[in-house]
Amino acid sequence: MTSKTKAKPKSKVARSRTPRSAAPSPSPVPTPPPDELPLAGTDRRHPSLGLGLWAQGRWGQEDERRTRATLGRAIELGIRWFDTAEVYGGGRSERILGDGLAHAGTLNPPAFVTTKVSWEHLRPGVLRAALFGSLQRLALPKVELYLVHAPNAHVPIGETMGELAQLAKEGRVGSVGVSNFDVDELEAARAALGSVPLVVNQVRYSLLTPDDGEAVLGYCRDHSIVVEAYSPLAMGLLAGRYLDSEGPSPELRRQDPNIFGPERLPSLLERARGLRKLAKDEGVPLPSIALHWLACRGVAPIFGASRPEQVEEILHAWGVRPSDEVLERADTLAGGRRA
Ligand SMILES: NC(=O)c1ccc[n+]([C@@H]2O[C@H](COP(=O)([O-])OP(=O)(O)OC[C@H]3O[C@@H](n4cnc5c(N)ncnc54)[C@H](OP(=O)(O)O)[C@@H]3O)[C@@H](O)[C@H]2O)c1
Repeated sequence: MTSKTKAKPKSKVARSRTPRSAAPSPSPVPTPPPDELPLAGTDRRHPSLGLGLWAQGRWGQEDERRTRATLGRAIELGIRWFDTAEVYGGGRSERILGDGLAHAGTLNPPAFVTTKVSWEHLRPGVLRAALFGSLQRLALPKVELYLVHAPNAHVPIGETMGELAQLAKEGRVGSVGVSNFDVDELEAARAALGSVPLVVNQVRYSLLTPDDGEAVLGYCRDHSIVVEAYSPLAMGLLAGRYLDSEGPSPELRRQDPNIFGPERLPSLLERARGLRKLAKDEGVPLPSIALHWLACRGVAPIFGASRPEQVEEILHAWGVRPSDEVLERADTLAGGRRA
């Protein structure tokens, strides 16, 4: 097996990639999945790489201008899956996405828009109003995928899922999913949805922060639920950010102590530097390792970007498939905490 890879064209996300082997692989890193994943109970496909429009919570005028430019570049380069939420920027993210899609006109293939209902809006009437607010900001008649952003123990899951099932039957949402759900919560959500399939669970999952993803992966595979990985670049560490002199801002440190807190950060930085060295030695971009490590698990990463050049770099990285051997070495290098 060769350890070097060659860069493929970076202009299209929806490439067709030939699996290396039809037989199950004995290695811990399985055969790569096809570019798009099946969406349970539908004849539609789930894109394998998406752009998230959380913008890491930055919504100043300049940030907003950059986010618009970043989205525009992503559309030009063929990204079609866009992830947003009603809480991102208090609706600004959905509005920017709506404007960007309207500006782009008819897309082929069409956009695959995911948005999320806030954990504060899970009672039926409120949920319906939240969806209609999102659709208005997005300027769309329906979204492909509507997710519960996070569970809320104070709202019976049956109420939420009953309303979501109804909205799916009315055609206002293509499919229903959840985010940040553990296995027990997934089980309850599926039972409450009845005949409407639960198609997605979006969780934090990266080579450096694997826990949430690995806790649900087996269950999701068994029940044909696509696992979407948010923060697949560990909020920039796996794109090489913060590894040298520049450290994360105090705002970022506050925002995510799980990554940027003083107990976690030194060890994550050390492992990220090890992964960067591996990438350099093997002649592949560091984000290639981060993204394909997920893709090889059948997981669909949603990366974040705040500048058009970052989208270009990430798409270039996505077009480079590290060898299975490199991904296995990366898994070992990153796995100190799990060992
Ligand atoms: N469901 C949930 O609860 C939840 C939670 C969090 C996120 N999400 C979703 O997941 C998406 C992605 O999350 P994330 O932003 O944490 O993801 P990420 O992909 O792990 O990190 C994105 C950040 O990495 C940096 N970056 C990206 N490309 C780079 C490059 N080529 N060179 C250098 N740095 C680069 C950028 O930082 P700078 O912007 O600082 O340059 C970018 O904002 C969000 O937008 C959102 O849609 C969902």
